[in-house]
Amino acid sequence: MPDTLTLTDNRTGLTYEVAIEDGAVRANALRQIKVDEADFGLMSYDPAFLNTASVRSAVTFIDGDVGILRYRGYPIEQLATESTYLETAFLLLFGELPTKDELARFEHEITFHTFVHENVKTLMTGFRYDAHPMGMFVSVVAALGTLYPEAAKVDDPDVRLAQVIRLIAKVPTIAAWSYRHNKGLPFVYPDNDLGFAENFLSMMFKMAEPKYEPDPALVRALEVLFILHADHEQNCSANAMRAIGSSKVDPYSALAGAAAALYGPLHGGANEAVLRMLAQIGDVKNVPEFVERVKSGEGRLMGFGHRVYKNYDPRAKIIKETADSVFEVTGRNPLLDIALELEKIALEDEYFVSRKLYPNVDFYSGLIYQALGLPTAMFPVLFAIPRTAGWLAQWLEGIVDPEQKIARPRQIYIGADERSYVPIEQRSAGVRDLVAAS
Ligand code: ACO
Repeated sequence: MPDTLTLTDNRTGLTYEVAIEDGAVRANALRQIKVDEADFGLMSYDPAFLNTASVRSAVTFIDGDVGILRYRGYPIEQLATESTYLETAFLLLFGELPTKDELARFEHEITFHTFVHENVKTLMTGFRYDAHPMGMFVSVVAALGTLYPEAAKVDDPDVRLAQVIRLIAKVPTIAAWSYRHNKGLPFVYPDNDLGFAENFLSMMFKMAEPKYEPDPALVRALEVLFILHADHEQNCSANAMRAIGSSKVDPYSALAGAAAALYGPLHGGANEAVLRMLAQIGDVKNVPEFVERVKSGEGRLMGFGHRVYKNYDPRAKIIKETADSVFEVTGRNPLLDIALELEKIALEDEYFVSRKLYPNVDFYSGLIYQALGLPTAMFPVLFAIPRTAGWLAQWLEGIVDPEQKIARPRQIYIGADERSYVPIEQRSAGVRDLVAAS
């Protein structure tokens, strides 16, 4: 059987043979299909890229039907158990697990780039006292680029690597400082004796004590959450990173754009919505009634369902186990019982089963963050810290991909045909009246 697709254009009766490669056809192959020479050629129309691959990528593999997530071929379950966030970041960025020496060097480089220019402090104190931490994060990451003008040389591999190290190292500092500013607390400088997650907690919570010493179980839980959130192939923010990066702008500007995409409630904000939902339910006994309301179309069960996973999100399984280790230290979050009951009922209910709605990564992550003392406004920022590794891995891959060009989708124009300019005295209805009437 040839790996081709035969298309017949019923407008002309002509047939075309199009190659099938890796289960896909090239959309550009449609351009040869024309009704006459003047015709532009056929396009594909795919709002939100529901069935369009925009890249060939070797970073992350997802099989949503069976619930598989792998970074560079390694199952997420193994990485969450065996690896650290920085080792996973190395894997995502460079394609292989590091040797002992490589890891030690990478950890050293990251640790010694955690400090930010003092101007960043001045910049951050300029935000209003109650500025949202994610708004600050997005702005400060973009501003960071102004401190490294050489970052514009994106075709130089050494320059690229230097920015990768800087970004991974400095995002926890920016994240923690956005929290401290929001709380009106003094900024805490990085502590080079501490590991990645530990240092972040120190910059968040250190007060007068000479050294901040978090419980190792809590540090590990945060590391696991960082590993689980490090990449998720071509999602909204990764797509933003690649699209902005395709103009060959510096990675700080591209990463600020990716972080802005993550800020949206449909992407990085769902775990906050889960906590609000659990608080609204209020008690385990109210769960059945809440589920009935969801089934009758009154809102959604937040933290359930996923565009890609039509099975249990593998990250949700790991997070559930991590939650147990956290609650052993912090005490049980009372909302956990409501979450467990909700999950139990939903997994047995025909409505959720038939629609393949399972808990996603956000169902339990908010509960852990809350138990760690991390406020809800920080949730998208906590997501952005580890996802920086994924965004950069996607960017590095895109920048050297000979097939990639500046991202520039086509459109199907549905507006007015050519018309002549109307002098202002001759216009009848105002645009606002027309909009109001439509
Ligand atoms: N609760 C109740 N019903 C749901 C839910 C839910 N959480 N999710 C989907 N459904 C139902 C829909 O009503 C629809 O039912 P219908 O066929 O009777 O109309 C069916 O399941 C399919 O839903 P779609 O909206 O087509 O699924 P889609 O793949 O577009 O949506 C999404 C995925 C946005 C994640 C959705 O499941 C949802 O809104 N979930 C809650 C929000 C959430 O948890 N988001 C986090 C995602 S993970 C992340 O971004 C990191």
